[in-house]
Amino acid sequence: MNPGLKDEKMKKDLIDITDLTTEEIDELIAVAEDIVKTPEKYSEVMRHRKIATLFYEPSTRTRFSFESAMLDLGGSVIGFSSPTECSVSKGESVADTARTAACFADVIAMRHFKDGAAFVAASNVDIPVINAGDGGHMHPTQTLTDLFTIHMEKGGFDNLTVGLCGDLKYGRTVHSLIAAMARYKGVKFILISPDELKIPEAVKTDILEAQKLDYIETDNLEEVMPQLDVLYMTRIQQERFRDQASYERLRDVYILDNKKLESAKPDMCILHPLPRVNEIAVEVDEDPRAAYFRQVRNGKFVRMALIMKLIAAYDSAKEKGETLEKPSQDNAEEFPKNILRCGNSRCISGIEQGLKPLFKKTESGYRCIYCDTKGTRNG
Ligand code: NCD
Repeated sequence: MNPGLKDEKMKKDLIDITDLTTEEIDELIAVAEDIVKTPEKYSEVMRHRKIATLFYEPSTRTRFSFESAMLDLGGSVIGFSSPTECSVSKGESVADTARTAACFADVIAMRHFKDGAAFVAASNVDIPVINAGDGGHMHPTQTLTDLFTIHMEKGGFDNLTVGLCGDLKYGRTVHSLIAAMARYKGVKFILISPDELKIPEAVKTDILEAQKLDYIETDNLEEVMPQLDVLYMTRIQQERFRDQASYERLRDVYILDNKKLESAKPDMCILHPLPRVNEIAVEVDEDPRAAYFRQVRNGKFVRMALIMKLIAAYDSAKEKGETLEKPSQDNAEEFPKNILRCGNSRCISGIEQGLKPLFKKTESGYRCIYCDTKGTRNG
């Protein structure tokens, strides 16, 4: 039924890249490579299966690649590409919209402007939910795309020096990529951003410091360029700024051009999740090191592998009369809002009806289970 995939127990959903073990990531990359070589082997495996793409936020690559992935597996697609197209515009909750999609589809891919939205969807349905980007939080399938591309371009992950440049605060792809690359041996991170757009505290304490990773923070791209094996450029996330003036001040802070690339390694690989605004000059597209359009193409192959894997795990559990576990709320504690509340104004817990404010205890205090932000104590 699913060529090349092991029938093993895995999580029902992909909400955060850490939902996948390193072995599972390696397997997805190996299957994606095989799909590139022999696409015909996979062209019917998802016959009569459907993906629901629930996109509350604009997308070009992510939605196209999810939909093409399912179509190239012989399946079909339902969904919406804007919340104005469905009952969301009437005020329907994420939970109810997900439950409705689950009546018709075998898997859901959801993009939402609120952090933690995919977690809420996954907690309310039995079928697999894939986080296609939740606010400024996480974007695990972009990370699978990035990993697959790094694997294709560099042959592996160990001992790479990875420069992440631009909006490290709101850029969700960066948060997921750090969590994934952190697992490989000898990886060094160079975090390049202006002070206002530095990596969030949660990523720093929970991943970089907790795992004692080698990382430095700087605002100077030119200075670190010669050290880099991979340069991951990102867009300044205009839509997540509270005031336009700060965006205007920071928008063109890094522009990669041919001149700046003169000091880069001849085999450095340039990635960008896209869309780009101004951060990579068009002249760079001709440089053989520019891998960002190859990266777009790669996104479909890893998503094909992921859809097969999640549906295979779901089918196998169903056959055995089991149900796969929903996102963990283990040890989560509920606090009245006047005692502790999520400190993140972009968290789904601020808008979703009936959602319990739940927190998990971590070494650095209580964190919201939906968006990982520290709880704010009142009084
Ligand atoms: C990214 C996203 O939506 O987070 N794009 C993508 O999915 N390929 C990056 C961005 O919007 O800047």
